[in-house]
Amino acid sequence: MPPFYVIGNLKMNLLSREECDEYVSQLRREMTGKTFAHARGIIAPPVIHLNRFQHLPPGFTLAAQDMSQETKGAFTGEISPLMLRDAGVGHVILGHSERRMYAGETDELVALKTRLALKENLVPIVCFGETEEERRRDETVAVIERTIRTVFSGLSSLFAERVIVAYEPRWAIGAGVTPTMTDILQVKVYLRKLFSELYEPALAERIPVIYGGSVKAAVLPSVSWEAEMSGVLVGGESLYPRELIKMMSEAEARFNSQD
Ligand code: PGA
Repeated sequence: MPPFYVIGNLKMNLLSREECDEYVSQLRREMTGKTFAHARGIIAPPVIHLNRFQHLPPGFTLAAQDMSQETKGAFTGEISPLMLRDAGVGHVILGHSERRMYAGETDELVALKTRLALKENLVPIVCFGETEEERRRDETVAVIERTIRTVFSGLSSLFAERVIVAYEPRWAIGAGVTPTMTDILQVKVYLRKLFSELYEPALAERIPVIYGGSVKAAVLPSVSWEAEMSGVLVGGESLYPRELIKMMSEAEARFNSQD
């Protein structure tokens, strides 16, 4: 059975080294006595604090919130995927809606970054989703199709199956509201259809699809397993280690009950 990802995007929070150390200690405390065979934790701290997150509990890996589409050179302010690898990062969030909104990132740029991340041995977590306005205009499928076709265009099967895709309706991010289970499931079904146009059906089934946008433990069943998602991308609630571990424990318990 494929793993269930619980990915914490800490965004631009935890402002000091002390706050980071406290966060990691809490995470370790909450994990005491627990082991997860199925639930996988991934934490994406602000890049400047990566070194404070080197001692995550077993079962956790480190992610970055973004990276450059270049590897080296005169790119002021950018972070190379090689630097991320060197800092122990295994995953990288790409095309998050806040990057699209505040830094003008496009699907084309996200496609470039995805390719480079894969080449440099990082697992890309590619985010996409419709705005409130696009949803009202019934353009959800069109938006998803555009991103997926752009990002996966020309991507070999070998690379494609290493990507994690994160459906994050922009209107749900930080809003305290989530789509219905049926809405998310419909997106999943559509993605499977699209992937099976681009790749052989068995591979199309294997690409993990996760959900993000106002995720907390209480909505986990409807936005994840009932909607057949392979994990969740958690923003606000990931600032509470206890809540993240709670979500992982619930995913693990569900997995065990299916054994
Ligand atoms: P949220 O953020 O959980 O605070 O809605 C999700 C995200 O930005 O990925």
